[in-house]
Amino acid sequence: MTPPDGTESKLDDLLREDRRFPPPEDFRARAHVSDESVYDEAEEDMLGYWARWAEDLAWFQLWDQVLDWQPPHAKWFVGGQLNVAHNCLDRHLHGPRRNKAALIWEGEPGDVRTYTYWDLHREVSQFANALKGLGVEKGDRVAIYLPMIPEAAIAMLACARIGAIHSVVFGGFSPGSLADRINDADARVLITADGGYRRGNVIPLKRNADEALQQTPSIEHVVVVARGWDISRTTQTTMQPKRDLWYHDLIRDASADCPAEPMDSEDILFILYTSGTTGQPKGVVHSTGGYLTQTYATTRWVFDLKEDDVYWCTADVGWITGHSYIVYGPLANGATVMMYEGAPDFPDRGRFWELCAKYGVTVFYTAPTAIRAFMKWGEEWPEKHDLSQLRLLGTVGEPINPEAWVWYHRFIGGERCPIVDTWWQTETGGIMITPLPWVTETVPGSATRPFPGIQATLLDEAGRETNAGYLAITRPWPSMLRTIWGDDERFRQTYWSKWDEPGTYFPGDGAKQDENGNLWILGRVDDVLNVAGHRIGTMEVESALVDHPAVAEAAVVGKTHDVKGQAIAAFVTLRDGKEPSDELVVALKAHVAEVIGAIARPEAILFSADLPKTRSGKIMRRLLRDIADGKALGDTTTLADPEVVARLKQRYEEEGEP
Ligand code: WTA
Repeated sequence: MTPPDGTESKLDDLLREDRRFPPPEDFRARAHVSDESVYDEAEEDMLGYWARWAEDLAWFQLWDQVLDWQPPHAKWFVGGQLNVAHNCLDRHLHGPRRNKAALIWEGEPGDVRTYTYWDLHREVSQFANALKGLGVEKGDRVAIYLPMIPEAAIAMLACARIGAIHSVVFGGFSPGSLADRINDADARVLITADGGYRRGNVIPLKRNADEALQQTPSIEHVVVVARGWDISRTTQTTMQPKRDLWYHDLIRDASADCPAEPMDSEDILFILYTSGTTGQPKGVVHSTGGYLTQTYATTRWVFDLKEDDVYWCTADVGWITGHSYIVYGPLANGATVMMYEGAPDFPDRGRFWELCAKYGVTVFYTAPTAIRAFMKWGEEWPEKHDLSQLRLLGTVGEPINPEAWVWYHRFIGGERCPIVDTWWQTETGGIMITPLPWVTETVPGSATRPFPGIQATLLDEAGRETNAGYLAITRPWPSMLRTIWGDDERFRQTYWSKWDEPGTYFPGDGAKQDENGNLWILGRVDDVLNVAGHRIGTMEVESALVDHPAVAEAAVVGKTHDVKGQAIAAFVTLRDGKEPSDELVVALKAHVAEVIGAIARPEAILFSADLPKTRSGKIMRRLLRDIADGKALGDTTTLADPEVVARLKQRYEEEGEP
């Protein structure tokens, strides 16, 4: 990527430095804890260490046993009882925090709402009672399909309050994807909105939901948030009598007295679907006590959150980052959380920085894909705004290239803010590998080392330790996924059977370790793509393509993209009688977006009469990746017909990207 004018030489200088960034002295001096002994303490007594974190939370009943580990199944804080909403809200109502802003929200059009802890507690309790009134009981599943509005957090917390299991579905997913997720979890209630704003457009969520609802027999009621009366009109929102209810009507009539349900530490808090190596997304299951303990602990130490911080994580609540680091971790800490509905470039490319200045954001957590976009737009945008309140920056979702790290440090962090590059996954629930900003000397591009209490190593195919290989987690951790909803066998197969040693977790990432012990995550080693920080399974996109009447076969690979990290490239074989055309390219891209959601739209489609296959008929994705990236072809000797790939490469080079 070419950096904006003038910055190239500055960046070069910075990159030529020995590229080590020790924690600033004043930062260290103000931190909750300020020395490295926490690592040793956690090592000496891992269970005692996590138990001390758990003791910070409010329990209705303390546990009898910290960990019961029968690989691959773990139970944390066995016998303990607590409620997540109680920990995120009620606990903060007794001191001065009751009047503190819990949530500061700004809509894309500029409308603002602020909820104190008192306000949030009231509305969550009211909505929890409303859900009860609709017949929702402990253990029932509730699907949430909302834009980034306060009601998203309120709905999650209301479910948690009554012990219902939420399944949040990202608002960018198609009706079909929503229906699949509702059906897999057998949800009784769907919570959605008439619409939401994105880059000046209205996303018609209720209309999408109505389409999904034609194939979701388990849904008894739909609660609809009125994002704005305007939206209801423009999206022509219709309500089906008896089934569909307006959120504001329910709240108006609901009591604010709703005692938090005592939940067993191992009761399920939520299901969140994520892409895997098959066409079918996996319902990752998270439970209560361990999840809250680790998200609480990591939020506190990684973001060093203090009473007066204004913390902003730019993720969407539809992803795990939104669950753990917009809602549960920060609210369990009693923090002030900023939430923004819309796009970073609306109405202009300075919107994020305008928000940082306006609300005095102190801790900012975003994704490398966003940083690369900011970098491309140029530093004139952040330079227009006062970012002097920022004191800590974070990144998550994909490997961050050192150039983007250095740019972020300089132009957003004013060279004063430490950067935490946090590695974790939907499945790990909380942050696993990360600097601690008050002790860790950071290196651009490296997530550095495991959070205290976490043990990670690198293994080769045979399970031997190595300094470049597969990342492996070798000990249970509190916020680990408990299973895959309805498919424990897939849980065992996917994560716990790569190596013979029982209880070794395989995250699906490759990594290397440098001579200082720092870990460098290199990216997925399975058939999962990471497009703009979103996980997408190649098989999901392939099945969406094959679902089109013109397509016989499809192979999807990731191609390097300077902003998104990876973009989707599809090689498609047409059915007999179907002819390649530009119109068909457009139609196929639209078809994938319709079947899965816009995030899965392929960037490039190349038609091919054959696909490179091994003699046993397996498509050689590695070679297709080489073609898509314009690289020299790797080993082709195992191919049934090496000519196929040579022809394909030549055509790709001649035609370029369609
Ligand atoms: C990738 C997001 C490098 C990784 C929280 C992982 C990262 C996948 C980093 C999980 C990072 C996440 N450096 N790679 N700091 N953080 N990843 O489930 O490939 O949406 O397996 O969770 O993102 O994505 P997920």
